[in-house]
Amino acid sequence: MTNIKQDRVLIFDTTLRDGEQSPGATMTHEEKLEIAQMLDEMGVDIIEAGFPIASIGDFEAVSEIAKLSRNATICGLARANEKDIDRCWEAVRHAKSPRIHTFIGTSPLHRAIPNLTMDEMADRIHETVTHARNLCDNVQWSPMDATRTEHDYLCRTVEIAIKAGASTINIPDTVGYTAPRESADLIRMLIERVPGADEVIFATHCHNDLGMATANSLAAVEAGARQIECTINGLGERAGNTALEEVVMALKVRHDIMPWTTEVDTTKIMAISRRVATISGFPVQYNKAIVGKNAFAHESGIHQDGMLKNAETFEIMRPTDIGLSATNLVMGKHSGRAALRSKLKELGFELSDNQLMDVFVRFKALADRKKEVYDDDLLALMRDQSSEDGHDHLQVKFLRVICGTEAPQSADLILSVDGKDHQVTATGDGPVDATFNAVQKVFPHQATLALYQVHAVTDGTDAQATVSVRLEEDGRIAVGQAADTDTVVASAKAYVQALNKLIVRRQKTAPNADVKSVTMRDAG
Ligand code: KIV
Ligand code: ZN
Repeated sequence: MTNIKQDRVLIFDTTLRDGEQSPGATMTHEEKLEIAQMLDEMGVDIIEAGFPIASIGDFEAVSEIAKLSRNATICGLARANEKDIDRCWEAVRHAKSPRIHTFIGTSPLHRAIPNLTMDEMADRIHETVTHARNLCDNVQWSPMDATRTEHDYLCRTVEIAIKAGASTINIPDTVGYTAPRESADLIRMLIERVPGADEVIFATHCHNDLGMATANSLAAVEAGARQIECTINGLGERAGNTALEEVVMALKVRHDIMPWTTEVDTTKIMAISRRVATISGFPVQYNKAIVGKNAFAHESGIHQDGMLKNAETFEIMRPTDIGLSATNLVMGKHSGRAALRSKLKELGFELSDNQLMDVFVRFKALADRKKEVYDDDLLALMRDQSSEDGHDHLQVKFLRVICGTEAPQSADLILSVDGKDHQVTATGDGPVDATFNAVQKVFPHQATLALYQVHAVTDGTDAQATVSVRLEEDGRIAVGQAADTDTVVASAKAYVQALNKLIVRRQKTAPNADVKSVTMRDAG
């Protein structure tokens, strides 16, 4: 094997490609740049920044990330054709260290889609990897659905890709079908049988359909793979991809039995996990390994007693290892701007003076209503960002709901649309439905509600509720998130925030459209 030391495992993050591909997880251009910067700073080796041919947006995001990255190799995905590969190269070529990742489905089911014979596919692999290699000296090739591909054919295709110049061979378990022993055997078989295998790096790319992605990835490393493909929080289609935080922390904590290292600064894990959860609108499950809210919570009396005597009694890693502060320092209405800035920095937010001013005003308003403001409250506050063009077309000015045991419930709403206030009353099946109907009355739209989720941020009856709303309109998806001690107010704000994002996206796709005429045609 060339390039890397035997004890080093490369971390290839595909949050912005395979993760973002998962339905509903769409990120804006700015959000992608922000995540890429965090990945670059935390020591990820390769960032798969997107699929440049997929859309202009994808292309622009990959190009920009390539220009801005300081440390990581920037990779783009391309199908097995010249057009895809050329477009991918156009985007990644700006990077200090660019990579083209090209793939084709090699299993019987996937071969049937382009209707290629085994020989025709073999020729296609030779041609496309050669083409990519003529553009870029760092080429990764993947036989999609490798774990369901006949071994002889898999060996044949991998050999062709290596001979054509691929320096990384990625072995995807596209449908999350394999199991640890099989995952290891497959890598071992390829390394033993394929001529030239010792000249390349084998990568493992697992999906989590059977909950085995982390185990399968680590088993592949045991067998000789030296690149793990993964995403933050395990974001990805269906049950997701291998979670970066899990493989990185497993290698760190159990270095005694898995003696491979990564360059990831694990203290940055929590901050990026929170950002990805916020941006994607996919919350992290409470008992998720490493980054779940309860991953370091010790509730039972026996555990707490043991923890107080010696943290190692029940803790195999320290919260600070992943960037969780050792103390959940409570903020309150007497906390000043400097304390807020430093707390937010710890939580992964570097704010400009203007941004801090805005957050500080909202923090004070919250602290007035809620005695103790915890980390989670601040994170919820940070989720309450304004719309993508920095100007909210719609703003909730006033909301009062009347609810009780008798239906229907009603909502009085003042919604400002581009600075002009509109007052309406609407009824509905419950206070949230009534509120959304009121918004619809002021601002008629076709967007459908794809997700509505409420979480209590902290404990207690004065806890804030954080609400996520996902709207869909003509294939565009927008996520709004807001927090408030009043669940219905949080719902209204989240709904309106998602609408604001849709308006911005509409304008981006039809830049000459007048927002008012597009959006206000029937406004009351
Ligand atoms: O899961 C998969 O097979 C992929 C490939 C494109 C590498 O994501
Ligand atoms: Zn995948």
